[in-house]
Amino acid sequence: MKKPMRIAITGAAGQIGYQLCFRIAAGDMLGADQPVVLQLIEIPPALDALRGVVMELTDCAFPLLAGTLATTDPAAGFEGVDVALLVGARPRGPGMERKDLLSANGQIFGPQGRAIAQHASPDVRVLVVGNPANTNCLITASQARGRSPRQFHAMTRLDHNRALAQLAEKTGVHVTGIQRMTIWGNHSSTQFPDLAHCTVRGEPAAKLVDEAWYRDTFIPTVQQRGAAVIKARGASSAGSAASAAMNHVRDWVHGTPAGDWVSMAVPADGSYGVAPGVVYSYPCVCASGDYEIVQGLEHGAFARERMAATEQELREERAAVESLLS
Ligand code: NAD
Ligand code: LMR
Repeated sequence: MKKPMRIAITGAAGQIGYQLCFRIAAGDMLGADQPVVLQLIEIPPALDALRGVVMELTDCAFPLLAGTLATTDPAAGFEGVDVALLVGARPRGPGMERKDLLSANGQIFGPQGRAIAQHASPDVRVLVVGNPANTNCLITASQARGRSPRQFHAMTRLDHNRALAQLAEKTGVHVTGIQRMTIWGNHSSTQFPDLAHCTVRGEPAAKLVDEAWYRDTFIPTVQQRGAAVIKARGASSAGSAASAAMNHVRDWVHGTPAGDWVSMAVPADGSYGVAPGVVYSYPCVCASGDYEIVQGLEHGAFARERMAATEQELREERAAVESLLS
């Protein structure tokens, strides 16, 4: 049996956290041969609910679950963790943009970054899910002194999966036949879902769909999908968000399939003209537990304009939280 991996989940008693706990303990994230210890972190008002989650986890008798911890203390919760899923944050309601959550949620991530720096395993991988995810990730990474910014990602995998699903529906080809989808920029309504390099059963996607559908239906549908789910469900996406978070971590740890890539919001490093200082979603490939931004993709004027617009929004979000950055 492998050594257990320690997984921290903040907001573990919330909607997304509740999904993550059971699916990770069942082996859906790291594999059927990888035991896990779940270190679940909540705020005091949710501690009783979290204890109930732990009771249920115990009652599942999961073969891979090597231990659980329920705590309100980030130092204890992040102790020795290999993966940290930062989910705990307020979700938006109808009519809000995700960046409206900046002042409520931004405060959460600096202290968590510091606790991760002090307590997590040296090669911890951190995925920020709580919104606005890219800028919360920036705050977390900036406060995690001594850790590489590359250890901190934000989640755009849900947008990536939504884009796959929309294109699959349009072309009548199963999602597994689609490769090289890309989400550029922010997990927000300015994100740019890009079909220019995408293939459907090996054919360029751009040949299979018309430009009007791409610009007027596909892009806005993907950009607005979170709001559409909130309108329909009365609560923000949870099952799909948990699934995407597990996809992200699995690929980061175990690698992306040959010939394909995934969308990950990672610290900008100048690739595609995006200067450092924001967490920007790029096409990424992963191998040996690390990621690289896919280089050399060409863009036309339309794409360049969209990529710049979403970068601009991230720079504005950054300016709004400058006091939380170290
Ligand atoms: P929820 O309200 O159901 O759960 C949030 C949980 O976080 C609550 O249990 C709360 O007690 C806890 N919490 C709050 N502050 C905390 C802190 N400082 N430390 C630990 N726990 C804390 O919300 P949810 O539906 O699970 O969504 C969580 C976040 O994820 C929201 O910000 C939501 O907008 C975001 N989200 C992001 C994506 C994405 O694609 N990046 C997708 C869906 C949801
Ligand atoms: C989503 O994309 O579903 C989440 O970010 C929740 C939201 O506020 O849209």
